[in-house]
Amino acid sequence: MSHQARKILVTSALPYANGPIHIGHMVEYIQTDIWVRFQKMRGNECYYVCADDTHGTAIMLRAEQEGITPEALIERVHGEHLQDFSDFHIGFDHYHSTHSKENKELSELIYKRQRDAGHIATRTIKQAFDAEKQMFLPDRYIKGECPRCSADDQYGDNCEKCGATYGSFELKNPVSVVSGTVPIKKESVHYFFKLGDYQAMLSEWIAGTTVPQVERDILGCPQSSVAPTLQPEISNKLREWVDDELRDWDISRDAPYFGFEIPDAPGKYFYVWLDAPIGYISSFKSFCETQPDLDFDDYWGCDSEAELYHFIGKDIINFHALFWPAMLQGAGFRQPTAIFAHGFLTVNGQKMSKSRGTFIAAKTYLDHLNPEYLRYYFAAKLGSGIEDIDLNLEDFTQRVNSDLVGKVVNIASRCAGFITKRFDGNLGHSLDSMLYETFVNRGIEVIGECFEKREYSKAIREIMELADQANQYIADKAPWVVAKQEGGETELHEICTTGLNLFRLLILFLKPVLPQTARQTEHFLNISELQWRDLETPLLAHKINKYKPLMTRVEKEKIDQMIEDSKQKSVVSMTTGPLIDDPISPEITFDDFARVDLRIAKIIKAEHVDGARKLLQLTLDLGGEKRNVFAGIKSAYAPEDLVGKLTVMVANLVPRKMRFGLSEGMVLAAGPGGKDLWVLHPDSGAEPGMRVK
Ligand code: 2FM
Ligand code: ZN
Repeated sequence: MSHQARKILVTSALPYANGPIHIGHMVEYIQTDIWVRFQKMRGNECYYVCADDTHGTAIMLRAEQEGITPEALIERVHGEHLQDFSDFHIGFDHYHSTHSKENKELSELIYKRQRDAGHIATRTIKQAFDAEKQMFLPDRYIKGECPRCSADDQYGDNCEKCGATYGSFELKNPVSVVSGTVPIKKESVHYFFKLGDYQAMLSEWIAGTTVPQVERDILGCPQSSVAPTLQPEISNKLREWVDDELRDWDISRDAPYFGFEIPDAPGKYFYVWLDAPIGYISSFKSFCETQPDLDFDDYWGCDSEAELYHFIGKDIINFHALFWPAMLQGAGFRQPTAIFAHGFLTVNGQKMSKSRGTFIAAKTYLDHLNPEYLRYYFAAKLGSGIEDIDLNLEDFTQRVNSDLVGKVVNIASRCAGFITKRFDGNLGHSLDSMLYETFVNRGIEVIGECFEKREYSKAIREIMELADQANQYIADKAPWVVAKQEGGETELHEICTTGLNLFRLLILFLKPVLPQTARQTEHFLNISELQWRDLETPLLAHKINKYKPLMTRVEKEKIDQMIEDSKQKSVVSMTTGPLIDDPISPEITFDDFARVDLRIAKIIKAEHVDGARKLLQLTLDLGGEKRNVFAGIKSAYAPEDLVGKLTVMVANLVPRKMRFGLSEGMVLAAGPGGKDLWVLHPDSGAEPGMRVK
């Protein structure tokens, strides 16, 4: 097999640094990692870089909620992410951070080059502003009623009920998620990237990365030498966008914001999506600093001949296939060779859900199951398209057990014992070369191509078909019968040598998917790291090590425990405790606490609020003074159950303007929510207005 080593740089999307990695994320990292491992096995010079995506409002607010600095938050999460990735055998060559000196320098450089070439404009825009928090509100931080279908509790950009998209000002009865107050409109100067300047360039880029359908048909199964193509779903969408008007892209955000300040624009920060993809370059740059032989410009220079691929989810195609190539080109960097998008993950046919326990953190999975099970299952499901994939937990169990344990590993365990006991651990001098050749040819002609084209599910089907053939061979030859026959030595030796050589090829094919099992197999067979080219040379007259079980069956109980654990974590995180999703707030002094004036209040009136899903309007008697309070307790109480009862309220809270009127205090409630919410004070002789101690 003679092919020239390709230079390839691969990335996966940078995960946000405000939360843990979950199995939905893992689809992409596993998909990418398999491809990278395959390229490395082929002898290509392939690097895989990634980083944490650390900027933006969500991370800033999250840190505030935890009472720590954003820097401390992103540092902790960086460690957690890396641990999860390495436990799943994701083999990054480098894992960096967008909050790094390289990324700051590169973001500024790219921005300045665009600005100096006239591709940045400024404009004053009106935006939703939270006057209490003194911050502009991204759409996801405003909730209200859908302007089209009036569904309650919808975000400021689109309606999950009817699918409408709109501007946050169109939302009816909007509320800031951050403070609960009604946002106001405020003007501010924003910086824009003039994407329209790149219309011609983008058309060309799309054309250059798309092999027309007819050519693809002629090529049939394109060989690796053919430039990879954009997926048809992407190129169609891109053409639509590019042929339409390309609107300016808003790349600035006002303080307070966690990110990089824009050069010569005090108080203005790069929008997280500007510096996030630049993280691909920064990560590679930081990697180069540790690799004396690696030349940064070979991979990112405008005349780079290396290939550059971004694996991403289908929801972020516009950022990668429109803004990104334009940003790069205008700033003198090369463009991506292709973008590879994938679909989302469903579990048991449905969206991942915290209450069903199917929102499974990577760590929770790893607490119960072998990461290679999931790597295998995803591989068995993934194609090159953007369709969603489903993790059906029953199918998962069945598939892993029957394919990996039942078919593949079984071959080794059936043959190894004879080699050890009867031949002192030595493989024979001959094997069934016809069968061996069948495997080799299938590997070269089909399996390799399937990996190259990201058609993993096809590759797995092919490999399992070969595993069936290997098992059939062993069943037909029945070494356990031959072993008992007098003079059967030579035949037994050949059967077991053939069996183990077929097993070695199956593991070679599966190595991108099962790196850990491959490592154990290399040790068992006493060989150096398997490369793709090794497939042509069988392993003969070679001493192997004693066989130890390579993989155990998936146990249903473990899956049940994992689901239960995921449910627990989501319930706990809604209530109390120093938890990832709901950490304890920063400490307050006793004086701070003493300033909260808690009073017994009598509920003298309780009413439904028109259009509110969670609120009841209460009139409270504080022993002479009446207060109007909106309380989010509708899920637990009917108004008639409350009238005449006592409760406890914070009596000295600044009145708040809410969507439905002024709320003059707050009723204390405890419990996880829903029906389990307790607000009533026992009627134990307490008088309205009495101070609560
Ligand atoms: O969608 C996301 O999760 C982003 N953090 C992906 C960023 S990819 C790249 F552009 F940095
Ligand atoms: Zn709607």
